[in-house]
Amino acid sequence: MGLLRWGALLSFICILQLVSAKEPALPECKFPAVFAFGDSLTDTGNSIAAFPDQFANAELDPNGVEFPTHAADRYTDGKLLLDFLAFGVRLNPIYPVLRGTGGDFTSGTNFAAYGAPARSVKVWRADAGFSSPFSLDVQQQWFERYKVRVWFYESPIFNPKGRIWQSLPKLATLNESLFLVWSGYQDYFSGLYDKTLTPKQTLKIVPDVVEAIETHLTKMVTPVSYTPPASETLIMPTASTILVVNLPPLGCIPAMLTLYGGPHAKYDSHGCLSDLNKITREHNKLLAKKVDDLRAKHPDVKLLYGDAHSVYTDILKDPKKYNVTSPLKACCGVGGAYNFNKEVTCGHTGMLENKFVNLTVAPPCPNPAAHMSWDGIHTSNTFNKAAVTAFLMGEHITPKGGLNCSPDFSHWDLRT
Ligand SMILES: *[C@@H]1O[C@H](CO)[C@@H](O)[C@H](O)[C@H]1NC(C)=O
Ligand SMILES: *[C@@H]1O[C@H](CO)[C@@H](O)[C@H](O)[C@H]1NC(C)=O
Ligand SMILES: *[C@@H]1O[C@H](CO)[C@@H](O)[C@H](O)[C@H]1NC(C)=O
Repeated sequence: MGLLRWGALLSFICILQLVSAKEPALPECKFPAVFAFGDSLTDTGNSIAAFPDQFANAELDPNGVEFPTHAADRYTDGKLLLDFLAFGVRLNPIYPVLRGTGGDFTSGTNFAAYGAPARSVKVWRADAGFSSPFSLDVQQQWFERYKVRVWFYESPIFNPKGRIWQSLPKLATLNESLFLVWSGYQDYFSGLYDKTLTPKQTLKIVPDVVEAIETHLTKMVTPVSYTPPASETLIMPTASTILVVNLPPLGCIPAMLTLYGGPHAKYDSHGCLSDLNKITREHNKLLAKKVDDLRAKHPDVKLLYGDAHSVYTDILKDPKKYNVTSPLKACCGVGGAYNFNKEVTCGHTGMLENKFVNLTVAPPCPNPAAHMSWDGIHTSNTFNKAAVTAFLMGEHITPKGGLNCSPDFSHWDLRT
């Protein structure tokens, strides 16, 4: 090739670069593994592994009906926020740590549990609805023990490195993994749902809930030493990239609108309940402050604050932009203005006003993607995807820029 032609080629490449410089491409999202803590907004099967009867419907239609290879053990129509996060950074599904049969932990591990509050569970009753004893402090203990087990399978004691070692992430990459903490929803929701706390009383638990999350975050970044038998003391690796997600507005959730709405209730411009929204606003404000404080205390840790609340309200402001036509109505539910009735909830059958209702049919509404709430309680695939897209691409997240990478949700999807 002559010099002239090289020159032409070079200037052509320059022009190409100028054109693409207009929209600088974000780098690929990449992490060796993802780990998660939280409640039913994040659990992929811990609580059903522990209590198969209590949470039986998590693996039955229509829950997870849009998830590839369902039964999915997920309380949503398709994918959870955690799923989008994992697939977005080009990993496989994040298995629950309690999955004894056929768990593949190479992409990370999920410690979240349906019904798990942020605040420590001191007394637990098995018949207490959708609650579980696996609060954040227990999940933290699972995580510490998990590290010890991973170390054990990597250590020369356990030689040769075999099948178990292959199904685990490497201890040395833990500090480069992505950690999700999305907790607190259960604390507020369950008391209001069971009417054991009034909205006013619920507002008073905010400092305790946020403190529990703060304690958990502190433990995640604090090195713990471990002395194995007949070996030197080890310092276990800690989390260095953590995404803490705040809570969507409680007063816009169909179950809450159904239970607390009415002629005496105060509504905001989106048709949500002002008193309940106050609780989540207070939670989010305090959580943001605590995360700021922790960031100052641990400058070596990348602490990200994902604003799920503002993603939710953005969709409420302009639902059409997200193809949402029923922002305040559940997809899987029955009756009333919000398609929700506590007597027969998603995944169950029952009698309502002498009529048989069957909410195990899939899909339970003509277009699940048009809803922000799946079952009146849990966020939908549509919302979860919008939130993670924003977080990965640097919107609705602090510090600004967020994870600053381009997601590829098609990375893992057996159905498409
Ligand atoms: C993570 O830990 C490994 C092994 O201890 C170390 O080589 C690596 O530099 C650490 N990475 C970060 C981002 O701290
Ligand atoms: C909304 O629907 C249109 C038409 O089907 C599609 O092109 C667009 O990507 C959708 N938007 C979102 C946010 O899903
Ligand atoms: C509810 O509907 C599903 C799907 O059509 C059906 O398989 C199931 O038998 C029905 N349940 C009852 C109790 O009729």
